[in-house]
Amino acid sequence: MNSLKTLAALSAMAISLGAAAEGYVPSPQVVESQKEFSADRFGIFIHWGIYSMFGQGEWYLNYGPKADEYAKAAKGFYPIDFNADEWAEAFKDAGAGYVTFTSRHHDGFSMFDTEASDYNIVDATPFRRDILKELSDALREKGLDLHLYYSHLDWTRPDYPWGRTGHTTGRDSTKADWNSYYKFMNTQLTELLTNYGPIRAIWFDGWWDHDEDSIPFNWHLPEQYALIHSLQPGCLVANNHHQTPFEGEDIQIFERDLPGENTAGLSGQSVSRLPLETCNTMNGMWGYKVTDTDYKDVATLVRYLVRAAGMGANLLLNIGPQPNGELPAAALDRLKGMGEWLRANGETIYGTLPGPFAPQDWGCSTRKDNKVWIHVTNATTPDITLPAPLKVKSAVSYADRSPVKVSKSADGPVLHLGSVPSDIDYIVELEVK
Ligand code: GLC
Repeated sequence: MNSLKTLAALSAMAISLGAAAEGYVPSPQVVESQKEFSADRFGIFIHWGIYSMFGQGEWYLNYGPKADEYAKAAKGFYPIDFNADEWAEAFKDAGAGYVTFTSRHHDGFSMFDTEASDYNIVDATPFRRDILKELSDALREKGLDLHLYYSHLDWTRPDYPWGRTGHTTGRDSTKADWNSYYKFMNTQLTELLTNYGPIRAIWFDGWWDHDEDSIPFNWHLPEQYALIHSLQPGCLVANNHHQTPFEGEDIQIFERDLPGENTAGLSGQSVSRLPLETCNTMNGMWGYKVTDTDYKDVATLVRYLVRAAGMGANLLLNIGPQPNGELPAAALDRLKGMGEWLRANGETIYGTLPGPFAPQDWGCSTRKDNKVWIHVTNATTPDITLPAPLKVKSAVSYADRSPVKVSKSADGPVLHLGSVPSDIDYIVELEVK
């Protein structure tokens, strides 16, 4: 009887311990970072590595070259025009709040000074400058936060266990050694979170390399996430695995699609209650590609940012710097246009919550306190019905404060704009009860 009782008590304890271990509770520092992150609404993604020299995008190594031949590009990597202050200024002027930089992409080349491998910007190139250090200092100076992209997969290191990509780079698949590779990653993450000041997020990518394994691959994420939080308690953990967020993650990422949409085929996952971020390109590829010159125009990019805000998501907009270290002129032009728009209208985007109804074909809404901003980006009629039972106290055009006529309908208030707006975004500011 007694021993049975003990057994029952022990198993009850085991159950409650299990539950405690499972229930990840973000620390107050994480919660604070989540708030700051969401308030920013706009970040810049940078995909830069020695792949820029081939001008074929960041996946080039996966499409033919042997890793040792590819690595020879490092010896010629001397981005003479790289100027971290100029980059930081362009990002700040564009109205971005943070920058996500590729510290190490799938090709395994580290764009920072690392003891864990010689295949890095300082030891393997004639440039010998720690690009990440210069960038982190420049961004901090401008008040921009730094996030770090970090590839979970590696097409170069023999110890990385083969996944479904990178089979032609000449790696010996029999040399896989997970313990060695995991240690390597954690050493690098420790360096990244120790030597470059506050890092607001680690942005993992590559989990999907093992999503077709017959035996589920164990990435040992909980321990890695715990390491991150132990080194910088406010650092957000993000993972571009295209799944509903895992335990221990602090934001949810979408690639090339707004939350809940799936035009690119990477985003079937449900939308969580975590802070959201959608990353997308200005042209087609992430890393610099010589033939990739078809850039979205400023209006398209602004509207995408606005729609993201209308869903409560950030836009992480990518640039692939040239091998000489300059940002492409077309990208700078888009940044300038977005900055102009945000200087005039940023109040309706930064620090806002999604408005009282889901985005519609004609546009979307954002809100803060008792203000609701109606963003008319794609109207076909001058009369816009708002599908929410809003009690409108006043309605004015955001641009010139002229009054906007409002009538009532069964679905909600109707705005009468007089004519179909042709603006990038015709904003109506409502004061609601
Ligand atoms: C993908 C690609 C990668 C890119 C990333 C950005 O996962 O593998 O090249 O860095 O998306 O979202």
